[in-house]
Amino acid sequence: MNSVVVTDKSVATISVEDGIGVVSIDSPPVNALGAVVRQSLNDSFRQLANDAAVKAIVLICEGRTFFAGADISEFGRPIQEPRLATIFDLIENMSKPVLAAIHGTGLGGGLELALVCHHRVAERTAKVGLPEVKLGLLPGAGGTQRLPRIVGIEDALELITSGRQIGAAEAQRLGLIDALAEPGALRTTAIQFARQVVADGRPLTRIRDREDAIAAARGKPEIFSDFRTKNSRLFRGFRAPEAIVKAVEAAVNLPFEAGIARERELLGELVASVESQAQRYMFFAERETTKIPDVPSDTPVRPVKSVGVIGAGTMGGGIAMTFLNVGIPVTLVETSQAALDRGLGVIRSNYENTAKKGRMSVSQIEERMELITPALGLDALSDVDLVIEAVFESMSVKKEIFSKLDQIARPGAILASNTSFLDLDEIAEATTRPEDVIGLHYFSPANVMRLLEVVRGEKTALDVIATAMKLAKQTGKQPILARVCNGFVANRLMSPRSRQAEALVLEGPTPSDIDRVMVEYGFAMGPFQMADLVGLDVLGRNDSIRTLRGDLVAKDRLGQKKNGGYYDYDERRKPQPSPVAARLIAEFAAAQGVQNRGVQTDEDIRARLLFPIVNEGARILEEKIALRASDIDVAAVLGYNWPAYTGGPMFWADTIGLPLIVANLRAFQDQYGDTFKPAALLEQLAKDGKSFTRK
Ligand code: 3HC
Repeated sequence: MNSVVVTDKSVATISVEDGIGVVSIDSPPVNALGAVVRQSLNDSFRQLANDAAVKAIVLICEGRTFFAGADISEFGRPIQEPRLATIFDLIENMSKPVLAAIHGTGLGGGLELALVCHHRVAERTAKVGLPEVKLGLLPGAGGTQRLPRIVGIEDALELITSGRQIGAAEAQRLGLIDALAEPGALRTTAIQFARQVVADGRPLTRIRDREDAIAAARGKPEIFSDFRTKNSRLFRGFRAPEAIVKAVEAAVNLPFEAGIARERELLGELVASVESQAQRYMFFAERETTKIPDVPSDTPVRPVKSVGVIGAGTMGGGIAMTFLNVGIPVTLVETSQAALDRGLGVIRSNYENTAKKGRMSVSQIEERMELITPALGLDALSDVDLVIEAVFESMSVKKEIFSKLDQIARPGAILASNTSFLDLDEIAEATTRPEDVIGLHYFSPANVMRLLEVVRGEKTALDVIATAMKLAKQTGKQPILARVCNGFVANRLMSPRSRQAEALVLEGPTPSDIDRVMVEYGFAMGPFQMADLVGLDVLGRNDSIRTLRGDLVAKDRLGQKKNGGYYDYDERRKPQPSPVAARLIAEFAAAQGVQNRGVQTDEDIRARLLFPIVNEGARILEEKIALRASDIDVAAVLGYNWPAYTGGPMFWADTIGLPLIVANLRAFQDQYGDTFKPAALLEQLAKDGKSFTRK
């Protein structure tokens, strides 16, 4: 056996074992197909093509994964030779069989590379997928042309437009993988497989030459139109899914080379689109949130092997589930047996619903339920590593709980509050160990929403912050770090939207006008529909001043659940404009002396509701409540379903131009007062021609 490093910069190692050449790539962290990896592949395969002693080639990766795709940071920059297409042609047209040996995650360009190989072996634990759609892109290295040739049109459309990763066993069933290897035995299994291919003298087959799976879809355009109709809600606003459907249509209707050309053309359009720029920005934004200047990545973390959750209501139950889901036992505390039973019942029925959808087994439900220790007093929390308090928002109740916890919890336990706006430092002061206190602000439903705001108090210890950030990732949450202020990042950021909606509705635009503009912008629903859904009586209230919402509640209009709210509801719960609400709005406006300004353009409505959010984001940055603008965008997209294809409010603001936003805010300020005053940071960036998010 001989081992050669190809060039100085090469990340490839070639070895030849008994007629089988093994190209091994090692480019941490994820073997992305950047320029150096491409050059290394190109050199290695050229070398082995000319080596008569080599009868077959195995392509394998070192480190945690097979190729995770193209190097995302290279998009939008000039492409360095050799291109992926060149290497793919070289491999696909080799005169000896090439076998991809996949471990970890073979994604995007990584899977596409495996599809130009003649055979694929995967470790049983490996996953594969084409996640480009999540970056606003399509698999542009042949994926839209080759995948349908193996799995057929319907599965290809579903897999590529969802970006879903599938396990090796499912991939084998679909024909994507030829053989499975036990963990740790990939290299030997792959070499063995290659030897067998050589020994059998199997003819070289290329996926590009396969016709049967796509021929079945020829002359059936309804496959595509049905797919578009079925998914129209899901795809709304995104640009990539439609381009993917078009590319797969090309796979069916055009010869292979023409299909590839069409795919490349569509990819080019996507790369240049604002939607994809925004989604690629979000990819890196999500990964940047854990980079905290005074909490370096090697900060030690405290072990968290058991958790206590105080409160088994909607929030507490959801939080408990996130830990149960990853096998961490939870002691669930309530004040009465009835409340405890109710909470346990909700958790169980949530799991049962998941099982009904085929996403977990009955035995898994039991396994998770067995991880819960129900308890009726805080004393049960004396041994846990982390306590999360999730009771209702009352400072006095929380202080009482934390002072008791201080007596009960073991030294070094982390004491967390799920408060959404209360002063965490005041809560921490109820203990003798404020350094162990942190905010863990989940979004409802906590077992579903990915955002987790980690709130650091004045005295929170650095290892407590590091532990919280790590635990978030471990439990499938996307953390952002916030400092203490009213509403922290996400709720504070978004609060101007409902305030402005309620002010604007007095001036002429109806609730449906305003909601429609928000839905067209990309939100799943507008602020009035949302308020009706949540219930007007449970939204924050202020009894000391008269509000429109208070007037509606006084007339027993509580929203969808009772008599309608801003809307009336038909028997299918569809919102209808409400004459009663319109009268109450007009009466309230008259009582407040608000002038009706009549119809407003969609653009005006959008500016009135969304520009103050950008302004609030700028204030959040000025006050150093959030670490960076991209953290704010992550909070808005994952906590409030702000449309991902805009990149969140701060990226969006940069896209449309900060001077325009400043000009609008100034005009609003003249008309309505200082709540619209542009933040100093926003004014400065606009003046200097700078932006929040572009580097
Ligand atoms: N390009 C560049 N950098 C990448 C990358 C990629 N494709 N994938 C991951 N990285 C970087 C991350 O930014 C991160 O960098 P950091 O440490 O400096 O923050 C580092 O690699 C580790 O990534 P994660 O924190 O995400 O590590 P995990 O272990 O949690 O996840 C993964 C690994 C599942 C591979 C995940 O990183 C992932 O999903 N990557 C993206 C996969 C993808 O979208 N591939 C398609 C790319 S587009 C394409 O291939 C186009 C082609 O069709 C032409």
